Order: sequence, then structure tokens, then C-alpha cells
Amino acid sequence: MRILVPGGAGFIGSHTCLALLEKGYEITVIDSYINSHKKSLQRVLDIVKRNNRVKNISIDIEIADIRDEKAVEKLFIRYKDLGNPIKAVIHFAGRKSVQESVLDPLLYWDVNVNGSINLLRVMDKYNCRTIVFSSSATIYGFSNSLPLKENSEIKPINPYGRTKVAIEQILNDTYNNQTDKWKIANLRYFNPIGAHSSGIIGESPIGIPNNIFPYITQVAAGILDQLSIFGQDWPTLDGTCVRDYIHVMDLAEGHIAALEYLNNFEKKLVNLNLGTGLGTSVLELIDTFEKVNNVKISKNFAGRRIGDSCKVVADNCLALSCLNWSPKRDLEKMCLDGWKWQILNPRGYD
Ligand code: UFG
Repeated sequence: MRILVPGGAGFIGSHTCLALLEKGYEITVIDSYINSHKKSLQRVLDIVKRNNRVKNISIDIEIADIRDEKAVEKLFIRYKDLGNPIKAVIHFAGRKSVQESVLDPLLYWDVNVNGSINLLRVMDKYNCRTIVFSSSATIYGFSNSLPLKENSEIKPINPYGRTKVAIEQILNDTYNNQTDKWKIANLRYFNPIGAHSSGIIGESPIGIPNNIFPYITQVAAGILDQLSIFGQDWPTLDGTCVRDYIHVMDLAEGHIAALEYLNNFEKKLVNLNLGTGLGTSVLELIDTFEKVNNVKISKNFAGRRIGDSCKVVADNCLALSCLNWSPKRDLEKMCLDGWKWQILNPRGYD
């Protein structure tokens, strides 16, 4: 079964491509490489070849933006003509920096929303109506009680989050169209960290990382001087923010579970939180990282970061019950694998 993976060269996309290939799916990736690296998918192939002792495995890669309708359509035509049509899409393509979305909202609306509309239009034209979409926990409002459920209030506070909500709404409207049978899973990710256990693929942010985990690994490696902890006066046990960190391979496997779940239905729309259901504070994360890897993280306390929320933790019961999936790798494993990737690749894929 052939799957199209827009944005498959990025952090979560590349780990999902690996999981797909290991489960025997054929994949085609469309990626602009604006925020990802050419080497990631080559390394995915290296891992699959090594683990499965196979030589004849490939990923068809199209370097293009999903706003380019002709480029997307070309792929659907190619596989239709080969008698191996694209059966489903796992859609990662889009911009993902909260900060950048505030500075350039038009770019975010254009790439994320127009790109998705374009993709859906072509899918529809070629009768491919199964899609797993990369949504985000950032769509939930601040005032919700925890843990966050799929029916908690949706109230994003930045343009990035609003583009994710808009795409979910477009998918909803598409699903409600009476004539076509769409199968749609909106996966709301919590905080993906770590790397594949081989240390061969991982997160390779361009420039100084915004997110805490790559920041920690780069401080530990001596690339960055010090981690600033944003706030020590939050109403949590140790005063620092709490997040639901999930191993990127658990998240990757969640996508395949969602795809296989959708295949049980004629028509389906489901929203699912992909998290562990466990909250970890910034200090707990640093502490675990230091202990399991026997390293020291130089740190200081800074003021609260604008737009941060105190606690973001998933209620993952729906995903656990629907998907026959559960996160298997704990925080220690996330820290071990993330550090292995950092040591083996001090400058990421560069
Ligand atoms: N933090 C620091 N110092 C840093 C960076 C982060 O203390 O240098 C803290 C933040 O204040 C926050 C926690 O670490 O409490 C996690 O911050 P991240 O930036 O790693 O992640 P966020 O929870 O802010 O957001 C991430 C992604 C979003 C996604 C969201 C889902 O960046 O794209 O998770 O909840 F939508």
C-alpha cells in the first residue's frame, strides 16, 4: 500500500517514514526542504536496510512545496498510471515555529492552510480520501482543566495554533460533505522529544533551537552555553512549567496505528491526543537528562516566556482505546536516545 507523506523529511515525518517502511508500506515523500534536511531520508533508508538486511528499498522523493498543485498532482498521476495508486496521506507539511508565526502570520496561513487545501483538492480528484493530519496540543485554550481531553475548549493563542485549528475545521467540513466517504484522523501532538534509538536520525533544528529538548542537548554538548529556564514562579510543585513529553518513535507508531484504525471504517473522523498522560516539569526533565546521561546542564532562571502555559498534559484514553497503541518509551529512554543522537551528530545533519 502506497502512502504519500508530505513533510516526510522533518523530525516527526522522518521517524514516521522509518516506522512505515519497517511495516512494509511503500512511501512517497513530498518535501520542500525549507525546514528539513536531505540527509534524513537517506539515513532512514540506511536504518531499514541495516535492520532488515534488504537492499531493494527506496523512497520516492519529490522536492516541492505542497502549495504547488502540479507537483502534488504529478505524484498521484504517476502512481495511478503504474497501477499502484496512493491510498492514503500522512500530512506533516507546514511551518511549525510559534514565534515565527507571530512575526509572519501570512506565511503561516499561506503554507499551512493553503497548502493543506491544495493537498485535499488533489486527493479528492484522485479518489484518495484517507488522511492522518499533524495537529497539535497548542490548539487547546489555557483555562481548560487538566488533563486535556479531545473535547476540551479549543482556543489557540498564536497564529501557528490557529492555522492548525483552521485545517482541522476544513477537514471537518470536508468529512461532512454528504457525497464522499472521507477517513480523517487529527492527531494532536503533545511534546515530542528524543530520537530513534540508533542515533542515526533525530531532531536537527536550523539555528538556535526554540524548544527545550534540543536546547538541553546542545548545552550538554557545549554548543550552547546555558539553558534559560522560563519562570520559576509557576503554580507547580517546583515552580517550573509542566509538559507531556512523548518519545518521537511512540508518536511515529501512533500515526501508523491511526492509519490502520481508519482502514476499519467506510467513513470516519476522529480527533486524538497523542501524549503519555504524564506531566514533567522543566527541572524534572533536566534532572532526568543529567542522571541517565551522566552530564551537567548549565542553567539559569529567566522570566516567564510570553505565551507559555503552566501545564499541558494529555488525556490519552481515547487514543489508547481506539488505536491499540500506547507509548512504550519513558522519559529516561527519551533522554538517552536524544543524547545519543546529539553525540553522534554534534551539528545535526549538517
Ligand atoms: N523552556 C525553557 N527554556 C527554553 C525553552 C523552553 O524553560 O529554552 C520551557 C518552556 O517555558 C516550556 C517547556 O520548556 O515550559 C517546553 O517548551 P517548548 O518550547 O519545548 O515546547 P512548548 O510546550 O512551548 O511547545 C511545543 C511546540 C509547539 C507545540 C506544543 C504542543 O513548540 O509547536 O509543544 O503542546 F504546539
